[in-house]
Amino acid sequence: MATKKDLSIDFLGVRCENPFFLSSSPVCNNAEQISKALDAGWAGIFYKTVGINGMDECSPRFDILTKETTPWVGFKNMEQISELSLAENVEEIKQLKAKYPTKVIGVSIMGSNEEEWATLAREVTAAGADMLELNFSCPQMTSHAMGSDVGQNPDLVYKYTKVVVDNTHLPVVAKMTPNIGKMEEPALAAARAGAKGISAINTIKSITNIDLDNLTGKPVVNGKSSISGYSGNAVKPVALRFITQLAQCEELEGEQLSGIGGIETWQDAVEFILLGCRNVQVTTSVMQYGYRIVEDMINGLSHFMEERGVDSLDELVGIATKNVIPAEELDRSFQLIPKIDYDKCIGCGRCFISCFDGSHQAIAWDSDTRKPTILEDKCVGCHLCINVCPVTDCITSDKVVFKEGRQNNRTAEDIAQQLVYQ
Ligand SMILES: Cc1cc2nc3c(=O)[nH]c(=O)nc-3n(C[C@H](O)[C@H](O)[C@H](O)COP(=O)(O)O)c2cc1C
Ligand code: SF4
Ligand code: SF4
Repeated sequence: MATKKDLSIDFLGVRCENPFFLSSSPVCNNAEQISKALDAGWAGIFYKTVGINGMDECSPRFDILTKETTPWVGFKNMEQISELSLAENVEEIKQLKAKYPTKVIGVSIMGSNEEEWATLAREVTAAGADMLELNFSCPQMTSHAMGSDVGQNPDLVYKYTKVVVDNTHLPVVAKMTPNIGKMEEPALAAARAGAKGISAINTIKSITNIDLDNLTGKPVVNGKSSISGYSGNAVKPVALRFITQLAQCEELEGEQLSGIGGIETWQDAVEFILLGCRNVQVTTSVMQYGYRIVEDMINGLSHFMEERGVDSLDELVGIATKNVIPAEELDRSFQLIPKIDYDKCIGCGRCFISCFDGSHQAIAWDSDTRKPTILEDKCVGCHLCINVCPVTDCITSDKVVFKEGRQNNRTAEDIAQQLVYQ
């Protein structure tokens, strides 16, 4: 049963009933469709990116990455921005805001020159939007004057953000491309030009699969394919990495963050919040499962807050950021040796094979009893065996062993207290 926690949070000065938004994509193309989402419990949306003209799209335009029997590990799309004209989109946004005055209607926009960005900012502001998101990040635009080619260039990001800020009174969030080494640079350019928030990530340039019959990437469009954007659960680690770097960038202090990329569950969403996001956005998992996944997100987050005795979501924002540190600062003085629970072991042998072929040959295998034994003198504590064992909590982290001469007056208990293990 759902708890009654207050999940509301301010994002860019706008009160949101919860942190869950739809990200700009075909999950928010028009008023009728978005109404269903808002009724389902989403606090707000970023409307499908509005341009001056509607786009000319290809068919088919999607592909998925599958692992064993799990489909949708990752998702590739070759879609650009809205297929509707500016005038048509303005009508949809007006209808939506009139029907949902207390929901948050963010609108994503994208121009190809200063004049277009200014027009879009003025028209969408007049239509009643609550905030603007600047799409500097679509990786498959047919014009190089738009999308991630712009987002990789801090000077252009500054110029277009400034034009928008000068043509609206609304809060502005700049959406970043992950197709770049240092996201902080365009983010800083947007902040200097007046953006109050940074959202990340848009999709990652990819080829998901090669069609072995047609000898081209997938999806196959009349015998050919293109490099285009990858999203879904597989990109969450990349998104969390960029969010961490933005959150840790001192020059960006004061910018509010919106996290996007691979969010499927409430746990995924909480991870982004713990790393500094006041808002999270979702597309791919909604394309797969529909709008109702927000119910589980709301319930899960409520229970999590209840369990932790947290009354306001603000208390969770960014509290894990300090625990991500540079590689050179990690404590490398000990090894954490695992142990096997033989009551749980099913004798599958996967730990033995992985440790032998992929680590340090530190598990002995009795082929008569199908029993693995950890050889502590050879074990380096890498935990490949824990990750590969199919039985929950069958192999667990156990003993702290200090490397020679590196104990430094600490006890195993001192280290164990610091360990947070899944
Ligand atoms: C089919 C599709 C279309 C998209 N269109 C847009 C768009 O118009 N504007 C935009 O800013 N991002 C667009 N995106 C990117 C998403 O908003 C989001 O940033 C990305 O997919 C990562 O989130 P996810 O893993 O939850 O999908 C699109 C994504 C997909 C899958
Ligand atoms: S922790 Fe690594 S080295 Fe030790 S037994 Fe497991 S896989 Fe082998
Ligand atoms: S992987 Fe787990 S279940 Fe399989 S043999 Fe090793 S300990 Fe037992």
